[in-house]
Amino acid sequence: MVDDPVFEIREYTPDDYGASRELWVELTQHHRDIYDAPAIGGDDPGSDFDEYLEMGNRAVSWVATIGGEVIGLTGLLTDGSEAEIEPVVVAVGHRGQGVGARLLQTAIDECRSRRLSSVSVRPVARNSEALQFFHSEGFRLLGQVELFMPLADTNRTWVGGATLAGREWTT
Ligand SMILES: CC(C)(COP(=O)(O)OP(=O)(O)OC[C@H]1O[C@@H](n2cnc3c(N)ncnc32)[C@H](O)[C@@H]1OP(=O)(O)O)[C@@H](O)C(=O)NCCC(=O)NCCS
Repeated sequence: MVDDPVFEIREYTPDDYGASRELWVELTQHHRDIYDAPAIGGDDPGSDFDEYLEMGNRAVSWVATIGGEVIGLTGLLTDGSEAEIEPVVVAVGHRGQGVGARLLQTAIDECRSRRLSSVSVRPVARNSEALQFFHSEGFRLLGQVELFMPLADTNRTWVGGATLAGREWTT
C-alpha cells in the first residue's frame, strides 16, 4: 500500500463530534444496506455514537482528516489486557485509498505500546468487504462466533453459502 501523504491521523477531540457522529451514521447505513434492513440503528442512529463516547472501556478514539475535514474514525475499547477496535469507518468518497488501513494500524500500534495481549475486531458476518479488509490487514484468527436463531418473523432474508466446521451457515 502506498502511503497517502494527504490525510493525517490524530486523536479525536470534542470539535470532531459532528463529523464523527455522521461517520457513525454512515457505518449504520452500510449495515442497513447489506442487510436490506432500514430499521437497523433505530430512528436516530447517531445516538449510538453518543453512547459509544460514554463507554467506560473506551480508551482512545482517532480521526482521519484531509485538509481539516474528518473522513475516518476508529477507536480502542480495552479492559487493560485485551482490546477491541471499534468502530472503523471511512467516508464513502475516501475509501480504497489506505485511510482505513492507517486508522487500524494506529489502533494496533497503541495496543502494542500498552503491551496488551490481543486485539480483536467484530465485523458482522455479512460484511464481506470489512472481512476482506481486516484479513488483508492481518486479522487471520477466528475467535468466538455468535450464532443466532430468529424467534420472530423479522422479514429479513438470509444469505447462504458460508461454511465453518464443515457446516453451512446463513449470514
Ligand atoms: C472497511 C473500511 C473501513 C476500509 O477502509 P478503506 O480506507 O476503504 O480501506 P483501505 O483503502 O485502507 O484498504 C486496505 C486493504 O483492505 C482491503 N480492502 C479494503 N476495502 C476492501 C473491499 N471493499 N473489498 C476487498 N478488500 C478491501 C484491500 O486489500 C486493501 O489493500 P490494497 O489497497 O492494498 O488493496 C471501509 O470500506 C468502510 O468504512 N466500510 C464501511 C464501514 C465498515 O464496514 N466498517 C467495518 C465495520 S466492523
